[in-house]
Amino acid sequence: MKFFIDTANLAQIREANELGILDGVTTNPSLMAKEGIKGEEAIINHYKTICDIVDGDISAEVLSTTYLEMVEEGKKLAAIHPNIIVKIPMIKDGIKAIKWFTDNGIKTNCTLIFSAGQAILAAKAGATYISPFIGRIDDSGWDGVLLIEQISKIYKIQGFKSEILAASIRNANHIIRCAEAGANVCTCPLDSILGLLKHPLTDIGLAKFIEDSKKM
Ligand code: E4P
Repeated sequence: MKFFIDTANLAQIREANELGILDGVTTNPSLMAKEGIKGEEAIINHYKTICDIVDGDISAEVLSTTYLEMVEEGKKLAAIHPNIIVKIPMIKDGIKAIKWFTDNGIKTNCTLIFSAGQAILAAKAGATYISPFIGRIDDSGWDGVLLIEQISKIYKIQGFKSEILAASIRNANHIIRCAEAGANVCTCPLDSILGLLKHPLTDIGLAKFIEDSKKM
């Protein structure tokens, strides 16, 4: 399973990258706004900086919602760096745009996936990645990981090639359950990645080894 970090914060991206286990970055308009990135030039420069830090797939989301606008905007984003993945929302025009990018050799990430039907359509259009938002499904009273399992089963049976990118991860347990459910990628906040490190018995065991090492 690939690990992406889900943030536009450069310090967090650097910290995750220094762990040596990072395969890419996902951003969205909310995450970019949170970092105060405003205006076309600032947006492009921010993506360039992220591409300089991480050697992996970097999702850059279109801000428009009509087919022709998404194609034009996506072409500009894709021109920033070969590692840019054009992130397109799961809407009717989005499917048409994903098909256009597929036919023109540009990689895409279909975002805002909340059902297996949406995942089937995005795969048919040739999306490189599809992003089910499991935390938001949990927030609405369902179990988001069950959607990952269902999509994984369908993709295997049907031979769909899109990679399942589990998004809206809230904690380390989500990452473990997504790995078990067949996600190809998890995009996670830094805290959730670091949460995987933690176990009280590791801390107790290490403290004892350090104490005993003084008697050696
Ligand atoms: C990533 O591609 C998504 O935009 C992101 O994971 C959404 O996460 P949230 O539900 O925490 O906003």
